Order: sequence, then structure tokens, then C-alpha cells
Amino acid sequence: MRTLIKLSLAAIAATAALSTSAQQGPLKVGLMLPNSGTFAALGDNIEKGFRLYVGEQGGKLAGREIQYFKVDDESDPAKATDNVNKLIKRDNVDVLVGTVHSGVALAMARAAKESNTLLIVPNAGADGITGAQCAPNIFRSSFSNWQPGFATGVVAAQKGYKRAMTITWNYAAGTETVKGFTEAFEKGGGKVVKDLSLPFPNVEFQALLTEIAAQKPDVVFAFFAGGGAVKFVKDYDAAGLRKTVPLMGSGFLTDGTLEAQGAAAQGLITTLHYADDIDTPRNNAFRKAFALAYKANADVYAVQGYDAAQLLAAGLNAVGGNLGKRTEMLYAMGKTVVGSPRGKFAMSTSHNPVQDFYIREAKGNYNVVTGIAVKALADPGRGCKM
Ligand code: BEZ
Repeated sequence: MRTLIKLSLAAIAATAALSTSAQQGPLKVGLMLPNSGTFAALGDNIEKGFRLYVGEQGGKLAGREIQYFKVDDESDPAKATDNVNKLIKRDNVDVLVGTVHSGVALAMARAAKESNTLLIVPNAGADGITGAQCAPNIFRSSFSNWQPGFATGVVAAQKGYKRAMTITWNYAAGTETVKGFTEAFEKGGGKVVKDLSLPFPNVEFQALLTEIAAQKPDVVFAFFAGGGAVKFVKDYDAAGLRKTVPLMGSGFLTDGTLEAQGAAAQGLITTLHYADDIDTPRNNAFRKAFALAYKANADVYAVQGYDAAQLLAAGLNAVGGNLGKRTEMLYAMGKTVVGSPRGKFAMSTSHNPVQDFYIREAKGNYNVVTGIAVKALADPGRGCKM
């Protein structure tokens, strides 16, 4: 009898929650991602991953339909504030999801903080977002720039390399990733002898490659991604450097790019919080669903988009889709453990994933796991006061 009463009460509560979420109307999600430029493919896969998770929940999160609003941010920081305000002020979105480029994301974080709009960052690693600019309404489903840089520095030092050169684009993602690499590499007994850079999104690498050939370091550490990574890896190989000076990088150097890089990328060692062949039921199911839905292979960007939706769902489920219960929702997002295709991860106190970093080797069209660089690596969250 008591069980029957309990069941009826639960059914009444569930029906009430459902009708409340239906009354609330659709949840407005503002996707601010690059649909053009060197990071276009990255933005595309983030959106596909996000929509895949929502689709798996029947197109609703916590009973609420999802309505999408989109802005192409072109990975252009100069347009970022205007672009994000289209979503916040014109479209009145409930949650912002974006973006790929660190400089654009920093402007999004400022606008989100000022307007108190919930922001989930599905890629951009700008350290400040979960560091000095952290806020209760800002979360990341990806990584901080420091994390993959640091993890690669650990591996490079373990390999016994002593003299390294770094090369990257001269903006937050490049400089902060190099800083993370340098911190771990020098702690492990190596020395970074020279940092090389060029403006984002330039791909005229020739003069810098000539300098690497002249200096002959033990290893080169590179941060590039998307179209720029394809060109860099091909140019490095064409300059004859792949066989003489080992090239390492954070995994963005070879993620989502291997088909285009072909033979030039084979054997490259990188570290990242994802690898294609993580052999778990969760990753296998995700990759199968992604391939079925989009006739393409998933990559780290797809995973981060999928997990941005999971993170949002965790918050919404805790409050029955009622955004009015904001404190409870944000609390639930901070405390959730995300069942990601990369492996389960928790949030740090500054809202950045605490996650394993894999050592990967490029083989054919896949980045395959060869080991763990650092387990449960937490960003230090420097400057975050929450
Ligand atoms: C960034 O700008 O933070 C970024 C862009 C592409 C890949 C990884 C990081």
C-alpha cells in the first residue's frame, strides 16, 4: 500500500514537472561558433555534437524543446562583442554556447558576466575564462590552454629531450599553451631555447621553419588547429624536418585533420583529453551514433559539443527545466560528473574539466592512444575567486 502511494506521488510529481516545463516554452540556445575561416570545421563539429546529444534525448532537455539561434563569429575577436550581443540582447537567449577561438571567447565571457547569461564554452581554452575571469554562470566542457600544453611538456621531458623550440600563432591559445608546455618541460629538466610565432591566422611558415632547421633543437612543440594545422604539418614535412627534428604538439595539431594531412602527419605524437580509439562502451556508442547521423568520424570538437549539451542537461534536470531556480541549477552543473566519450570528468571549483590527458600517435586517419600523459589533470585556476 505504502509503495503504491509512493509511486502515485512520484507519478504526480513527474506529471507536474513535465507540464511545468511545457508551460515554460522552448529553451533558447544561442550557438556562437565559427562557420567560416580556419576554424569552420571545428565549429561545425561542435554544433553536430551538441545536436546529437539533444537528439538522443528526443529533441528536449528536461522536458523543454530546444530552439537554436546562430551567429557565425568568424573567429574574429574584433566582432565578438557585437556578435554575442545579437544573441543576448536581440534574441534573448537562455544560454550561450561558444566558441572555438580564445580571443572571441574572452569577449563572450565578459558579456556573459555583465548580463548574467549562462555560458558554456565548448572549446576555447583561454586560461582566464576559468581563471581570473571565472564566474558562477560560466562553465567549460573542453580544457584550459594550460592543460594540453602542460601534459605535452611532461611527455617531452620524459622522452629525454633537452632543448626545445616552440611555434604557434601569437594569440591567447598559442601563448598560453606554450606557457603550459614550458612550465612542465623545464620542471622535467629541459629548456625552451626559442619561441617562434606568427599572427593568427597566418600560414606563411617558411621563414620560421628555416630558423628551426638552423637551430636544430631536440624537439619542436607546436600549437595550431584546423586549416592552419593542416598547412603547418605539411610544410614541416616538406621542409624535410619531420625526419630530423621530432615534432610534438597539443592534440589539436592532428585532430580532425589527419585525412587532409595524409602522410605528413603519420607518427606524430600529441597529447589531448581525447583519442579516437578509446575503447569504452561510451566512446564506441558515441562514435557510432555520430557516424550514423553525419556520415563522418567524430573528433575532439564533436565530443566537447556533445558534453556541453550533457552539462546543460545536468543543470536543467536538477531543476525540472525551470531556469528560475538558477542557484540550484548552477550548483548542479558544478557538481555533476559528465559521462563523456573521453572518460568521466568532474568540474574544478573554477568550472573547468578535471580530466585525463592521453598520449596519442597519428596512425592512418586516427589518433590512437599509446599511454596516459597525466591522470586527472586540473587547471590551477589561477586568479579565480568564486
Ligand atoms: C583556442 O583559440 O582556444 C583554440 C582554437 C582551436 C583549438 C584549440 C584552442
